Amino acid sequence: MATIIDGKALAAKIRRQAKEEAAALRAQGVETGLAVVLVGDDPASQTYVRAKHRDCEECGITSFDYTLPADTSQDELLALIARLNADTAVAGILVQMPLPAHLDAERVIAAIDPAKDVDGFHPMNLGKLVRGLPGLRPCTPAGIMRMLEEYGIDPRGKRAVMVGRSSIVGKPMSLMLLAADATITIAHSSTAELEEACREADILVVATGRARMVRGSWVKPGAVVIDVGMDRDENGKLCGDVAFDEVAPVASAITPVPGGVGPMTRAMLMENVVFAARSQAR
Ligand code: GUN
Repeated sequence: MATIIDGKALAAKIRRQAKEEAAALRAQGVETGLAVVLVGDDPASQTYVRAKHRDCEECGITSFDYTLPADTSQDELLALIARLNADTAVAGILVQMPLPAHLDAERVIAAIDPAKDVDGFHPMNLGKLVRGLPGLRPCTPAGIMRMLEEYGIDPRGKRAVMVGRSSIVGKPMSLMLLAADATITIAHSSTAELEEACREADILVVATGRARMVRGSWVKPGAVVIDVGMDRDENGKLCGDVAFDEVAPVASAITPVPGGVGPMTRAMLMENVVFAARSQAR
């Protein structure tokens, strides 16, 4: 039976560290504010934004919430970002995705000062990741790397398979595993013989958004399985992209849903705010 990777407990530890670091920065007169921008009234996004607000409170990070109507124009949103870029009380800026369809998310992301881009989505930060330079890293893959580290799982020389190629998870995750000396395969919806590809993995990271897609037979005995999914099954029950009950007996370590990747993503945001504040204070 696999070790269950306790993302919830590790996230609590990271928040405690972020709280200490935020207090130390404040003592030096450095602000650690996070501006969270939500456009429209998508209920899932509202839930995420509330959770970020709570995390900030716990970590002693000031949060500035900007809730804008769904018909906010591109120019209005860009004007707000320009103001936040210039505001020294704001160390980090997060624009909750997805944006309403009439807004150009790429332009919005590119407008954020890369030093304040705590999502790590700005082309400058993704470019730094490609080049192996320090910078703000996307929270989900950064949280996964931290879980591997904490559980003594060294990607070096291992075969890692990333299922999913999004800019938020799949692509940056692949680059981080590569930087940690894994041999990486990026699989996706057009990959032929996906099951066989997954069975090659020593480390299997799944971010497809398809409930329980990865079955026990897809996993090499002893593999480490990381489940990025937050899905609902046919009964409306929260589950991941991995069939946990089938895969846990095969894997050596596995993340649960909930309680795995999700809390780590949120905790890494707090760490990124502290990182952003510290780097801007220099
Ligand atoms: N929507 C879903 N996940 C994320 C995230 O990590 N950051 C932002 N900004 N929006 C999201």
